[in-house]
Amino acid sequence: MADSYSFSNCFVTKTREEEEENARSLQRYKNLVSNLPKGEASAAFEDFICLYQGFWFADVHCQGVLAVQDHFKARSTDVIIATNPKSGATWIKALVFAIVNRSKYPIYNHPLLSQNPHGLVPFMEISLYNNRIPDLEILPSARILATHISYTSLPQSMIDSGSRIVYITRNPKDAFVSYWHFKNKMRTVLSKPPLNFMEEFEQFCMGVSHFGPFWDHALSYWKASLERPQHVLFIKYEDLHADPVLHLKRIAQFVGCPFSSEEEKEGMVDEILKLCSFETLSNLKVNKTGKITGAPFPNEAFFRKGQVGDGTNHLTSEMIERLDQITEEKCHGYGLIM
Ligand code: A3P
Repeated sequence: MADSYSFSNCFVTKTREEEEENARSLQRYKNLVSNLPKGEASAAFEDFICLYQGFWFADVHCQGVLAVQDHFKARSTDVIIATNPKSGATWIKALVFAIVNRSKYPIYNHPLLSQNPHGLVPFMEISLYNNRIPDLEILPSARILATHISYTSLPQSMIDSGSRIVYITRNPKDAFVSYWHFKNKMRTVLSKPPLNFMEEFEQFCMGVSHFGPFWDHALSYWKASLERPQHVLFIKYEDLHADPVLHLKRIAQFVGCPFSSEEEKEGMVDEILKLCSFETLSNLKVNKTGKITGAPFPNEAFFRKGQVGDGTNHLTSEMIERLDQITEEKCHGYGLIM
């Protein structure tokens, strides 16, 4: 049986009728996106950003979102990793993949040693539905897939099926600074000039950022995690840093693969944490020099410092105050501290 992370067969040539139907759908998404309210591009891969269902997307990603909403059929066994950009997707993808597949692969010969976590657990709207419509039905359960789509815009089948959604967010100061570096890295690769820090900050505060407003995104999953705790697990990057053992066990329990006492005694929790640590992953050859299919930048762009609090090294006290105030105004009423 195929591995749940072998995606290449999902793109095999279909019948002519299916091909034509898909081409018509993709053209329709393109037309829809071209008529949405627009903003200026800031990353290197888009022509413009657009506002759809209250969130901002790169044009290419928005077409992917429409395709996911129309075509993705969720299963109750699916594990969906949802994240705010630059909030720890690489880390949580590695952890969930290692947890769910731990009986399949020995640590010394693990797919994470030779593949980047984003290749094993791709973003649906960015990679899988990027100007194409994959057949994800052929993948065996349990499928692990990722998205940056807000909870309010997820395909209905993801909610109805009872798929388990693991969401990770991060304090907006660190996430903003991390994304700033990431986008500039992409721009350098594509010979584009770096972005203006102040202008980017202003846009971020106004909510005009990829998959943002950042705070609304986190709140959408926060509220869902309170309403449907058995289906939506809400994690903060900072909490995972502070107590990785506790959170790894929480995630394992949540996705239906709790650690047995034998596994704990044998050190499985620590082994997975070590395998997925910033130190291990960032030093692997695949993550130093490799590239995910289709990505214009190398895998090393996903690894910078991996620390908590680096945002404050780049932001002025006024900027910090402004972000803290927005967080307070938007989130605290709902009990969300970031
Ligand atoms: P910094 O830019 O602050 O270093 P994402 O994975 O969502 O794209 O987020 C990227 C951030 O997560 C980057 O933060 C990156 O360094 C950090 N990161 C990547 N892999 C990590 C890991 N295994 N453990 C902790 N942090 C990690």
